[in-house]
Amino acid sequence: MMFIRRVHRLSNLITNKSCKKCRFYSDYDRVTTIKEKIKQGPSLKDFLVENSEPILTESPRIPYLLEKSKIPTRRKVFFDVYGCQMNLNDTDIVWSILKKEGFIKTDIEEEADIFLVMTCAIREGAETKIWHRLDHLRGYKRRAKDRSVKIGILGCMAERLKEKLIEKEKAVDVVAGPDSYRDLPRLLALTESGQTAVNVLLSLDETYADVVPVRLNQDSVSAFISIMRGCDNMCTYCIVPFTRGRERSRPVHSIVDEVRQLADQGVKEVTLLGQNVNSYRDVSQATEKFDTHMVKGFKTVYKTKKGGLRFADLLDKVSAVDPEMRIRFTAAHPKDFPDEVLQIISERPNLCKLLHLPAQSGSSAVLDRMRRGYSREAYLDLIQHVKNTIPGVGLSTDMICGFCGETEEEFQETISLMELVDYNIAFLFPYSMREKTTAYRRYKDDVPELIKKERHNRMLEVYRRKCQVLNEAEIGNTHLVLVEGTAKKSGKILGRNEFYLRVIFDQADILAEDGGRRQAKPGDYVAVKIVGARSATLTGVPLYHTTLSEFYRDRQWGAARCLNG
Ligand code: 5AD
Ligand code: SF4
Repeated sequence: MMFIRRVHRLSNLITNKSCKKCRFYSDYDRVTTIKEKIKQGPSLKDFLVENSEPILTESPRIPYLLEKSKIPTRRKVFFDVYGCQMNLNDTDIVWSILKKEGFIKTDIEEEADIFLVMTCAIREGAETKIWHRLDHLRGYKRRAKDRSVKIGILGCMAERLKEKLIEKEKAVDVVAGPDSYRDLPRLLALTESGQTAVNVLLSLDETYADVVPVRLNQDSVSAFISIMRGCDNMCTYCIVPFTRGRERSRPVHSIVDEVRQLADQGVKEVTLLGQNVNSYRDVSQATEKFDTHMVKGFKTVYKTKKGGLRFADLLDKVSAVDPEMRIRFTAAHPKDFPDEVLQIISERPNLCKLLHLPAQSGSSAVLDRMRRGYSREAYLDLIQHVKNTIPGVGLSTDMICGFCGETEEEFQETISLMELVDYNIAFLFPYSMREKTTAYRRYKDDVPELIKKERHNRMLEVYRRKCQVLNEAEIGNTHLVLVEGTAKKSGKILGRNEFYLRVIFDQADILAEDGGRRQAKPGDYVAVKIVGARSATLTGVPLYHTTLSEFYRDRQWGAARCLNG
């Protein structure tokens, strides 16, 4: 059958004859179809911006979109965000782009004309949640007969599945990958004539540096700033390099400007975001300095870039903007913690002393299969070095259990690493095989789901038990707490200490800097004496209002916690 079809196509090709059945079009037919399309499409005039307008306006017009196909402005957009903090920040970027084009944001589903779902593809579970949400939205779209409702899928799942998303989920109108958000107004405009629109091109240089994100939650005392995008590490289990593309960093000055603007708006805490923030490199800046060497015992699969401003330089500049602004960063890779980075973190009070050092596994053999570029021993040496350089430092990690071929003995090495290192925060995951990754091509997902689940529970048990001990050791110490608001359940005041741990306390009139007394409000720094501890939350008694610089002045830290009450 295949053979007959091939011969048929070949004969059409030789005779240059069109055939609808095998979708072969002769040169003549193809040229005529293209001519027809050009006739119906925009003309040169549509690409020219009117004389009165400057060619480069801040918000670029889309001259080739005919007036009638332009999306009616003031359309209401409902955002759904899944996944990591990077997705939250990307949603702010998308919102900034759409707001400029006249769209309106709504938090009420019934009002929405457009649903934009920011998706995650890191594990199957993440995608399952999104499919459920799409089921709901499909039903919603069907019921909203009186008006046209559009659904757009953005982010990593859009990039992973591309057109397949529309084939599988007929209700989807727009698919936009992480590097095509600038194109969203055009993509949405195309849907107005009933078309579906897809842009999943990845870029080598898109960082959205010039798009000032508009925060969905304007009242929050903390904000995210994405400083780089993509990842070159190619850990064998990870889909991220395929969905977010190659690593590229945003210029230092645009990050510093954004921190300054946020400080002016009263934001007190900024988290620098990226897949691998500590390999940050602003190559637009020439430096005289020699390149820092990779930490001993760590290697990469890619050729490291040379020159430019590095993460230590960025931390230096960002932390200098406002000494009262707490600076955090995530995610990081253990390979990129040279002494310069550790040194500056130890010196600046507003650089939070919680380091994310994702181990992923405690077994050198598994780490090798994961292509992490370090052994258990090199990782433990780094932890010791970090602890020596930043006394009292807090540590966080990511761990995966049940990776391809993981034996019980190898898993026990993960458990023993968790016993050895005092992690304040850990994100623990059962392995989820992702298509396209090296592991998918090279290994077998051979740890049964039940065993993965059981190992996951064992990791959770160790983590919670150890956290409880670590947190109980804080009872009697005084922490600097940045107030966020009120806890939903108890109505008490909720804030975070330097290790990003929740601290809850009763509202009270406490001593203020001016000698008077007042209650705590969001954005305040309050010195809180810890009186109770659970594995994920501390409870305390508020002592007095303070500032970040004041609190750490003359104190010997114990990092986040001030040991001398
Ligand atoms: N399965 C399970 N966990 C994964 N992670 C990344 N890819 C996978 C996967 N396929 C985890 C890693 C990473 C975190 C963001 O998600 O621990 O650090
Ligand atoms: Fe994925 Fe590894 Fe890159 Fe992290 S460093 S995003 S785990 S490939």
